[in-house]
Amino acid sequence: MRAVRLATEGFRNLEPFELATDAQFVVFHGDNAQGKTNALEAVYWAATLKPLRGKKLKELVGWEASSAHVALDVVHEGLLRRYRVDYEGERQIRVDGKTPRELSDYFTGVRAIAFAPSDAAIVDGEPSIRRAWVDRATFTRQPAYLGLVRAYRRALGHKAAALKGPTDPALLDVYDLQLAELGAKVAERRAVLLDDLGPHVREVHRTIAGRKEELGLRMRTKALGDSHEVRKNALLEAMSESRELDQRRGFTLVGPHTDELVISLDGKALRTFGSRGQVRSLVLSLKLAELLAAKAAGVTPLFLLDDVSSELDRARTARLVQVLAELGAQVWASTTAPEHIEGLPVGDTVAVRVEKGRLDVS
Ligand SMILES: Nc1ncnc2c1ncn2[C@@H]1O[C@H](COP(=O)(O)OP(=O)(O)OP(=O)(O)O)[C@@H](O)[C@H]1O
Ligand SMILES: [Mg+2]
Repeated sequence: MRAVRLATEGFRNLEPFELATDAQFVVFHGDNAQGKTNALEAVYWAATLKPLRGKKLKELVGWEASSAHVALDVVHEGLLRRYRVDYEGERQIRVDGKTPRELSDYFTGVRAIAFAPSDAAIVDGEPSIRRAWVDRATFTRQPAYLGLVRAYRRALGHKAAALKGPTDPALLDVYDLQLAELGAKVAERRAVLLDDLGPHVREVHRTIAGRKEELGLRMRTKALGDSHEVRKNALLEAMSESRELDQRRGFTLVGPHTDELVISLDGKALRTFGSRGQVRSLVLSLKLAELLAAKAAGVTPLFLLDDVSSELDRARTARLVQVLAELGAQVWASTTAPEHIEGLPVGDTVAVRVEKGRLDVS
């Protein structure tokens, strides 16, 4: 998968621009606060429909503008698709000029994985950040997962409303059944993803971090079992046990929305003892493993690497670049100085200077 054209208008601090390239490495460089991350974010938004930072789409609109627009042309399996996202009070998406019927159709020909400094929180931050990563990674592998997660969230919302109203056990039973059905599926998809990522994470972690610790990756969940029925029943039972407490709290305490991803090195939870360097290497390993697993399954997403220089030392960056080059993934990176990124293939790299929101291919 390769993005061959990026154009934006009204997007954060960026001046309108159009960049056509088929290079494997696209590097935005310049001083701090010039718009490098914003440029990466434009790619990320068009590829995933999510902002790279924050949550609100209206923050993407330039302060002087009334609407934000990003166009991204992507070649995947020999086919060129023109993606376009516009935001003017609400979001509009198009592929080849048409609105896709299902949101998941949008992602047939475009995916992206990003690695940014703030991603350290996946390892040392709140449990919800780890869950969000597992869900994002599962979605990147299988865009239809989005529909399942949304259905689960809707069911949670319905049950929360019922928990707050006058008690109707029969109604709560109906919601529990629905939640167990959907929740068991969510738990299964996550487990499949983690099983799939495990060997890749361990391999990449050895390469990037040069470490031999035994790395573990699993969800702490009530929805355990070998089949959908078993997982569903386990979840139902756990929900019924927590019913009283749920009613007191006014929300559902058991289910995939409260499950924890446990990341461990040599059996110890990394969240509590990981050094800064260990945490960074591990997060990068998670992201690269996503890329490797996706490639093994037939789709190699775009890889976005924000703020290379501050994240890793030179030796690690060089190894990282080598891994990415061998993988054949297209990489969009930002850095304060391109010389921080050693080993970039000269013939296959385009350097884009970013200054006060203006982009120049240098
Ligand atoms: N919606 C917006 N409209 C206009 N400007 C914005 C908007 N959002 C952010 N900015 C500004 O864009 C500027 C560039 O931000 P960006 O994060 O891309 O910088 P950067 O080049 O990546 O810097 P660093 O090297 O420090 O990471 C910032 O000064 C920020 O205040
Ligand atoms: Mg930045």
